[in-house]
Amino acid sequence: MAVIAVYSVKGGVGKTTIAANLAWCSAMIGGHSTLLWDLDPAGGAGFLFGIDQPGERKAAKAFDGKRHAQSQLWESGYPGLDILPADESLRDIDRHLLALGKKKRLAKLAQSLSENYARIILDCPPTLNETTAQVIRAADAVIVPLPASPLSRRALEMVQAHLSSSAKQHPPILPVLSMFDARRRLHKQLREEMPDWPVVPMASAIEQGADRQAPVGSFAARSPGAEAFASLWQAIDRKLAMRKKPPKRNGLPRLYTQTRRSGGRASSE
Ligand SMILES: Nc1ncnc2c1ncn2[C@@H]1O[C@H](COP(=O)(O)OP(=O)(O)OP(=O)(O)O)[C@@H](O)[C@H]1O
Ligand SMILES: [Mg+2]
Repeated sequence: MAVIAVYSVKGGVGKTTIAANLAWCSAMIGGHSTLLWDLDPAGGAGFLFGIDQPGERKAAKAFDGKRHAQSQLWESGYPGLDILPADESLRDIDRHLLALGKKKRLAKLAQSLSENYARIILDCPPTLNETTAQVIRAADAVIVPLPASPLSRRALEMVQAHLSSSAKQHPPILPVLSMFDARRRLHKQLREEMPDWPVVPMASAIEQGADRQAPVGSFAARSPGAEAFASLWQAIDRKLAMRKKPPKRNGLPRLYTQTRRSGGRASSE
């Protein structure tokens, strides 16, 4: 089992797009039973799978326990992929978690849901708060989408600082160059500086995914966007498989490995 958080302190950098498409790749390419858990009250991840209005369901109730979480699951329409959608009730979740005083509530819930899911992907809001700290405690890897701008490195440093302050042993970070446009000088420059970072191109097929409410791989499998998500997914899966190996650091920030729980196999309850 692995929990993968897609997180940044910055808004509009492609977190939801990456989380939704990676969840689809995990189920459809990786063959893993997968849960996409939307933690952002804006509800973008569910929307990308056609869940416009989760209705009267109360997303925040999921934090009350496994059964509550399970009662709110939606089928995505793709085999092996379920969604725990967000709604406005999550706006209060930070206060709720602080009042509970359970620092690992999210981690424990993810652990109990892992009886049914081999991969849990968290789409996070661009906040620095208790919910983020809980996400970091729960995650086995944190994907940080960074648009190609001079501010990217700074944003990454902020995420790293936050991760370090949230947990003694924070999970590995995978920076991803998002919305990459090879025609732009600054983009090319950053790509040259960070050759190890996976890239998600700025692509009209990816944008269309929001319009069609479908992952790009489902309607344009051979497009550069779909291929980028597939290879990003494979890179993450490979890194997760290496979780117990010793840390590998080499200058600039990159995914590195730290000792985490070994996890169990998912079962189909
Ligand atoms: N690679 C891409 N190519 C083209 N458009 C993209 C790409 N990635 C994201 N977008 C578009 O950019 C916008 C912002 O993306 P997204 O909602 O995924 O960002 P976010 O980081 O989740 O934002 P927020 O912080 O508001 O939750 C959306 O309209 C999305 O369709
Ligand atoms: Mg989002």
